[in-house]
Amino acid sequence: MSQNFDVVVIGAGSSGYIAAVRAAQLGFRVACVEKWRNPNGEYALGGTCLNVGCIPSKALLASSEEYEKAAGHLDEHGISVSSVKIDVPKMIARKDSIVSKMTKGIEFLFRKNKITWLKGHARFVSGEGASIRLEVIEDGEALLVEAANVIIATGSKPRHLPGIPVDNKLICDNEGALAMTEVPKRLGVIGAGVIGLELGSVWRRLGAEVTILEALPTFLAATDVAVQKEAAKLFAKQGLKIELGVKIGEVVTGKKGVKVAWTDAKGGAQALECDRLIVSVGRVPHTEGLGLETIGLATDERGFIPVDGHCRTALPNVYAIGDVVRGPMLAHKGEDEGVMVAELIAGQKPHIDYDKIPWVIYTSPEIAWVGKTEQQLKEEGRAIKTGQFPFAINGRALGIGSPEGFVKVIADAATDEVLGVHVVASSASDLIAEATMAMEFKASAEDIGRICHAHPSLAEVMREAALAASDKRALNM
Ligand code: FAD
Ligand code: NAI
Repeated sequence: MSQNFDVVVIGAGSSGYIAAVRAAQLGFRVACVEKWRNPNGEYALGGTCLNVGCIPSKALLASSEEYEKAAGHLDEHGISVSSVKIDVPKMIARKDSIVSKMTKGIEFLFRKNKITWLKGHARFVSGEGASIRLEVIEDGEALLVEAANVIIATGSKPRHLPGIPVDNKLICDNEGALAMTEVPKRLGVIGAGVIGLELGSVWRRLGAEVTILEALPTFLAATDVAVQKEAAKLFAKQGLKIELGVKIGEVVTGKKGVKVAWTDAKGGAQALECDRLIVSVGRVPHTEGLGLETIGLATDERGFIPVDGHCRTALPNVYAIGDVVRGPMLAHKGEDEGVMVAELIAGQKPHIDYDKIPWVIYTSPEIAWVGKTEQQLKEEGRAIKTGQFPFAINGRALGIGSPEGFVKVIADAATDEVLGVHVVASSASDLIAEATMAMEFKASAEDIGRICHAHPSLAEVMREAALAASDKRALNM
């Protein structure tokens, strides 16, 4: 006996669960296969983002920011606090309860949209004819499933380094780094990417001495050069030690912690002794045990499932979305692909503009951008103009005690069309939405500059930077 569906989604992370919901909204009979189990053995929806990614990391970032504020930044407001303590297990329990609320929320969405959740590991069996056959394996039992369309949304997993075994106790990837029950005195981090900077910030704010070892001669290489410079300055001021151009050598664990041998940019031998080590050197697509070969599909040399601009694989009724395909490994990119594919299956003509996907790094201040950097546009030989405006002279930023950072708007020199917006600010994650919307509508810098922005607000800086880019006529500078 097999079960039949119009659409089977494999994976219920950000991209898979949204694909399932949209397909159900469009009237399809939908199943979503998900094998994720929590440490207590319970099955859970939500994938990396909800369980061990976006949501828990942002919860810890918020808790640690509150702690740092209470411990060091209330004095300037005339508020004195006699003793500030952090109860790490309580902070972790808060994070866990947010995760649980969110994952249970997806269970509710599945029930509401009549999506069948098949618990277990999905594996392709055959792909001949009009339908694809899969089996879902749970505790050794296999359930046969037939689907007219399959959406692969199996996500990614942390990349580990040879000779550095992750046990999520002494040496952690994102899972262990989000579950520490005490503040390590000395925390080592390999990789100054998004996870290294976000989780390094969490534990630094709570009192850890954090050293980040980065292989490249620069960090945040994908960001605009003005952002790179500002971030380096701000993180150094906060006490986040970032060593660039390093080569990692032997890593030895002992009773007291971890010792990392490394070579600095000048070739000098160095050693880092720390109580915990986080390895955050990128993520790799996850396709193990999926049986792609049984339906004639293969991954590329980097492990991704090859797809076209509409997430179609080489098979007409098999699609792949999210972290398991090309493009940025971001939850919202995968969500948009989930919507796009469900609508394609329904015969609609959806489209994603991959140049307009915003990025946010949730450090303090936050870093966000959409579109191209100044260096990318110069490499393309495009004539551009730029406008930059600081938060240091914005009344709202001063009032809330967040005067760091700026907005930089890059526009086409001839047409004034906005080509990139780069923000370093306490609420960059929210501010970038205006820029993304403007760019989706092909706005000019002058368009943003002529829109009325509430006063006093951080968004006024977006307007000023746009006016500065448009014809150097920022009003308050
Ligand atoms: P995943 O979320 O990885 O989900 C894939 C699911 O498929 C998993 O649940 C897995 O169990 C399941 N699965 C895999 N194979 C099978 C199989 N054969 N059978 C059944 N089920 C299977 N992105 C942002 O946009 N913003 C952030 O702030 C952010 N913060 C992050 C913080 C951290 C610490 C990490 C690690 C990531 C963060 N990300 C963030 C990235 C984001 O989590 C990913 O881009 C997103 O989760 C990708 O979604 P996905 O659905 O493609 O894959
Ligand atoms: P990353 O790709 O952001 O950064 C990895 C860093 O490690 C790079 O700077 C790289 O040069 C460095 N590196 C690689 N090998 C190294 C080595 N051997 N020694 C020293 N340094 C080395 O990857 P990260 O931080 O693991 O995050 C994975 C992905 O998860 C991100 O790219 C992003 O897509 C997603 N993510 C998104 C977040 C957000 O949107 N706010 C937050 C966290 C993760």
